[in-house]
Amino acid sequence: MKYALITGACINTGVAIVEKFLSEGYGVVFTGREAARVDAAKKNYLEKFPAAFVEGYVMNSLLDARTVDEATVASLFASLDEKGIFIECLVLNAADQGLGMKIFENPLTDFMRVLNTNVTWNFALAEAAARRMKERGEGSIVFVNSNTAYRAIPDRIAYEASKGAQLGMMRGLALDLGKYNIRVNAVLPGMIRTDRWEKNPDFYKDVPSRFTPLGDVADGADVADAVWYFAAHARNTTGAELVVDGGNTIQLYPIIPKEN
Ligand SMILES: NC(=O)c1ccc[n+]([C@@H]2O[C@H](COP(=O)([O-])OP(=O)(O)OC[C@H]3O[C@@H](n4cnc5c(N)ncnc54)[C@H](OP(=O)(O)O)[C@@H]3O)[C@@H](O)[C@H]2O)c1
Repeated sequence: MKYALITGACINTGVAIVEKFLSEGYGVVFTGREAARVDAAKKNYLEKFPAAFVEGYVMNSLLDARTVDEATVASLFASLDEKGIFIECLVLNAADQGLGMKIFENPLTDFMRVLNTNVTWNFALAEAAARRMKERGEGSIVFVNSNTAYRAIPDRIAYEASKGAQLGMMRGLALDLGKYNIRVNAVLPGMIRTDRWEKNPDFYKDVPSRFTPLGDVADGADVADAVWYFAAHARNTTGAELVVDGGNTIQLYPIIPKEN
């Protein structure tokens, strides 16, 4: 059986990515920060895919804003080694969204927290996975990045910085790992329909029609399809970016309907 490790997969986009890999016959190891939510997510996956191999792992990126939890990364991979599970595809989906980052108000540790999770922790996971992939002579790493790596939105400066840094890291990993037949790529979603949309329907009502030429934002499944493309089909592709944003990034102004 082939195995994928997918981070941040108790809710939203991560769930769609896990379900895509399970539906393709992969065994999946996923992470979340709270044991109860990891258990509940595993139960949901097994209800949908009763014959699947799916294992949840409790993992928080940081010990505090300044300190990445390296030990938990090491213990996750050690435990997979013990079970004979080789992670052929690592999907780095979890992210600190860094919401409400006010340049003159937030302490520096808020900036560090977001960068440490989205960049440094992901590097630690990529390094641990790539070390095993190198031995095996194959593997694929996919970052779930964001079109905010290209264009900014208000009060998200640490998030934007982290997603830009992730793209640089993705290219560096792709370059250094290519000789081991390890491919490293990034999916750049724009807005994704998540539970936040269900909670704030009025806020999001006009977003798809005004901000995307296609008139729709992505569902988790659209992002999962792009991740799957890199994981399973893109044999000769590394260091690439696939934007999944309904055309959001190419549009200069919001579309405001003219009043008659
Ligand atoms: N939603 C969008 O509109 C959008 C747009 C562009 C790009 N993206 C990117 O797409 C990916 C998924 O987005 P999403 O909206 O589905 O994410 P989400 O709902 O915010 O879920 C993020 C996941 O990351 C995990 N996570 C957060 N902080 C963590 C930490 N410090 N340590 C370990 N895990 C942590 C969460 O774990 P818990 O379950 O334990 O909370 C959660 O499972 C992210 O990389 C995001 O940047 C999203």
